[in-house]
Amino acid sequence: MQKITTIAELRKTVRLWRQQGLSIAFVPTMGNLHAGHIKLVSEARKKADKVIVSIFVNPTQFGVGEDFESYPRTEVADTEKLVEASADLMFLPCTLEMYPNTASTTITVGKLSTIHCGAYRAGHFDGVATVVFKLFNMVQADIAIFGEKDFQQLAVIKKMVQDLNSPIDILGVATEREDDGLALSSRNGFLTRREREIAPKLYQALCQAQVSVIKEMDFNTIEQEQKAALEVAGFKVDYFSICRSADLQPATERDNELVILAAAKLGKPRLIDNVHFSKK
Ligand code: PAF
Repeated sequence: MQKITTIAELRKTVRLWRQQGLSIAFVPTMGNLHAGHIKLVSEARKKADKVIVSIFVNPTQFGVGEDFESYPRTEVADTEKLVEASADLMFLPCTLEMYPNTASTTITVGKLSTIHCGAYRAGHFDGVATVVFKLFNMVQADIAIFGEKDFQQLAVIKKMVQDLNSPIDILGVATEREDDGLALSSRNGFLTRREREIAPKLYQALCQAQVSVIKEMDFNTIEQEQKAALEVAGFKVDYFSICRSADLQPATERDNELVILAAAKLGKPRLIDNVHFSKK
């Protein structure tokens, strides 16, 4: 596996692969790789001749007082995992390489960026969209692969690619979970032992809500009941919302393609998760 830190060197390798007629799949990450990321790399392996994985803890998607400084950085372990997963290239730019002091352009993906997580993390999706767009321009991949755990992020990126006519396919991959249902996340490592025992209740609440939706219970009642149950369990719930999966707007009983999105703090970490399904 090649390990590259500069955009110039990355472009050189990509150009060479392109001259050889090879296709490229891209997995953008912030490192601290777990089985969820490795699943994305395995999917990427199936989709193209070459697989590029970026690791960059992007400062512009963290708000003031969020966990940018403490976000886990585990380059040695990540390298071993990517070698084992047969990635071809690991791109590890430094902050100045990604954001020279002269940079002044930001991508904003409209309404999708300001609801749900966007309402609690001002500017977060601008940071995500901008860094992902820059990475797409650097990597020039045929396809990029993202986890469905960050369902809103995936929606924002799909919308950006559509609106800006980016020549890249976007693939979402199902969330990887622990045996007890907890969605894998780099932030799970911040949970205390007690919080780790409580954490699977978030996914349980989402699954119960899905059952209630299918039984045609009132959406508002479902949301309020599950929110209250999570608060009793020790979560501080930001939102628990039954939405249309197409645009993440509040769903009505007439909608069929649904996603239930939830975000809640449990001690230090903020957990997010979702279930998406067809009601028909
Ligand atoms: O999902 C992530 O790890 C990040 O938000 C991403 C897409 C790599 C952008 O920094």
